[in-house]
Amino acid sequence: MVAPLDQLIGSLANTGMTRFFRRLFDDYPDLLMKDQMVEAVGPDRAIKLGGHWVTNFGSDSFLGLDQDERVKAALERGVRAWGTHNGSSRAFTCVEPHVRAERKLAEWLGTEATLIYPSVTLVNVGAIPGLATRRDVVVADQFAHNSIDEGLKLAKARGVRTAKFAHNDPNALVDTLRSLQPYRHAVIAVDGVYSMSGVLPPLTEFRQIAREFDAALYVDDAHATGVLGAHGRGTVLEALGDYDNVLTIGSLSKGFSCMGGFVAGTQDAINVLKLRSNSIIFGGPVPPPYLEAVCAVVDILASDEYPALRARLDANVRQLTDGARQLGLAVMGGSVPIVSVLVGEEEATLKAGRFLYEHGYYVQSVVFPAVPHGAGVLRMQVNANHAPEQIDGLLGALAALQETAALPTPDAALAAA
Ligand SMILES: Cc1ncc(COP(=O)(O)O)c(C=O)c1O
Repeated sequence: MVAPLDQLIGSLANTGMTRFFRRLFDDYPDLLMKDQMVEAVGPDRAIKLGGHWVTNFGSDSFLGLDQDERVKAALERGVRAWGTHNGSSRAFTCVEPHVRAERKLAEWLGTEATLIYPSVTLVNVGAIPGLATRRDVVVADQFAHNSIDEGLKLAKARGVRTAKFAHNDPNALVDTLRSLQPYRHAVIAVDGVYSMSGVLPPLTEFRQIAREFDAALYVDDAHATGVLGAHGRGTVLEALGDYDNVLTIGSLSKGFSCMGGFVAGTQDAINVLKLRSNSIIFGGPVPPPYLEAVCAVVDILASDEYPALRARLDANVRQLTDGARQLGLAVMGGSVPIVSVLVGEEEATLKAGRFLYEHGYYVQSVVFPAVPHGAGVLRMQVNANHAPEQIDGLLGALAALQETAALPTPDAALAAA
């Protein structure tokens, strides 16, 4: 007799999304560069993948700090001083570098306090339900990150009314809040930067609306942390000039090259979130070595060294963006160090990614469901420690790709949008 667990797994293997991915794996066994294993990491963003050394254009370690000797040394120091893990929920005990890292993050950002979670996903599924009760509402931009959506679902399961509004549309936000009245309080959740399009939200208008509708603004700035704004403080301070009526969420896993996520806000807000975020209370923390590494990264971001580091990153992004535009490609993005080039159909996108890999460059081929059907993109993550020659090499490979496949021009892409 087939065990119920095996029956369950069999049924799940036939659900829509699993079947879709299975078919991709079956149809494109050589093309589908998903679930890859990096076999070795070399200098200058080299990685060994499938037995070949290639240049990695698929890392969110935008500032290249994963290879910084000071950050590595801090991590080692953390292991020696505190061991590999504290082994306790923050609700019981935390180690000194946890408090130090939170204080340093707050000083760097200019907020009263911060609270570290093990990931931004765990921020969004902990803080969003934690911020609302049955008398309150939570609304989110329709294109906000999946983890915000998961946070809304948890809030809804606890009786909070939730809704989505049209992407970056202040009028739609007003209509949505109005339709939910009466309520006691509201939370408006948006991304600080939409990483696929590089588009920023109209934060000034959203904050104005928030004030008019008794709402708080919740900005997930994961992709901007460390790489946008003065000293990498992100989009909120840059757009609004202060943090009034805003909770800012940042990532410690992308530009920071460490691990975790955080909420930054007033001391009162942090005190309440610490008591109302189930993902912190019922789960383990970021391990001490990474907390020491976070402290080392904050020192770098806050230092005089930052402008030069950022200038290298910005120059690399410009070189790739300008070069791809000169090739006549449909380039998306621009405000974050992610440059996407439209390809189109799923198979063509996968083939394009494979072609670049065979020419020595790993980039991510992004297809449905991460992007709409037939709108696959080559997603190139630019890092400060890419050498200009590596970017030229990638542009050369893109030019060679154009000779084998007709890629959409910016005009064609606009017409299809
Ligand atoms: C806006 C946003 N929020 C949350 C996440 C998830 O972050 P984490 O990997 O720390 O859970 C991401 C990751 O890409 C993101 O872009």
